[in-house]
Amino acid sequence: MTPPNNPPAAQGMGANSQTPLVLPWEPKALRRRRHILLLEGITVVFEGFKALNNLNLALREGELRCVIGPNGAGKTTMMDVITGLIRPDRGEAWYRDSLNLLEADEVAINLAGIGRKFQKPSVFESLTVWQNLELALKAKKTVFSTLVARLSGAEKAYLEENLQLINLAESKDRLAGSLSHGQKQWLEIGILLVQKAQVLLLDEPVAGLTTQEIERTTELLLSLEGKHSLIVVEHDMSFVRSIARTVTVLHQGAVLAEGDMATISSHPAVVEAYLGAETC
Ligand SMILES: Nc1ncnc2c1ncn2[C@@H]1O[C@H](COP(=O)(O)OP(=O)(O)O)[C@@H](O)[C@H]1O
Ligand SMILES: [Mg+2]
Repeated sequence: MTPPNNPPAAQGMGANSQTPLVLPWEPKALRRRRHILLLEGITVVFEGFKALNNLNLALREGELRCVIGPNGAGKTTMMDVITGLIRPDRGEAWYRDSLNLLEADEVAINLAGIGRKFQKPSVFESLTVWQNLELALKAKKTVFSTLVARLSGAEKAYLEENLQLINLAESKDRLAGSLSHGQKQWLEIGILLVQKAQVLLLDEPVAGLTTQEIERTTELLLSLEGKHSLIVVEHDMSFVRSIARTVTVLHQGAVLAEGDMATISSHPAVVEAYLGAETC
């Protein structure tokens, strides 16, 4: 067992955190097997500027991870790398121990089980809530004949179940375009769920939502924990506190700190770089 050539730095966890240390001496294959998503030494250079700089991120199956950091820290670029939109200049990225994310294309990555919700909801506004979910279910199958086929009883039940989960059962016949911003966000999460995304990447899921909608989103994301693996990028710190398990703080394209909320809040470099005078 030879140590990796360029081991990632051991990332300290809060004393109360259940997250195991990323062990620098652990063989790569074993580390991949222990995580559903693993980024190691990812560097992305835009015209000489390092948007990501030797970034390491290890997500366990079923984990709900918050990623915070100032504007320009590299959060969106990190999601772009995971989803195959951007190819990094250096590093490795794996989904489970089977899919090399740096070799697969966007469609293959999505089909393998990584779903992304962009900051701006992208639902079909002229279709109903139900039709949006139906389309998501059928699109997953990719075979043309299924696009015109009627849903089976089991498929209908599956969509109903997901409608309940995203709190839109009573709005299922409404046009998606008539939904509130928060409801559109839930519908988009519902689309990822219907498509059986194992890893959900959510970019600012509560931006622009009402207090009530934020509470409902909190419940929804907590209910997904354990069944799905989530990376939630969010600026709203009271929301982050309400769902926080392990929090990763990005700064200048790298991990500045990682741990539970108490660890992060009292980390001097984090307070200086991001949280400022905010009390956590
Ligand atoms: N396509 C691009 N070309 C040049 N610079 C980019 C590009 N995309 C992002 N950047 C830069 O990379 C840095 C990280 O951006 P981003 O990942 O969007 O940060 P965040 O999502 O944390 O706000 C920023 O300084 C941004 O200006
Ligand atoms: Mg961003």
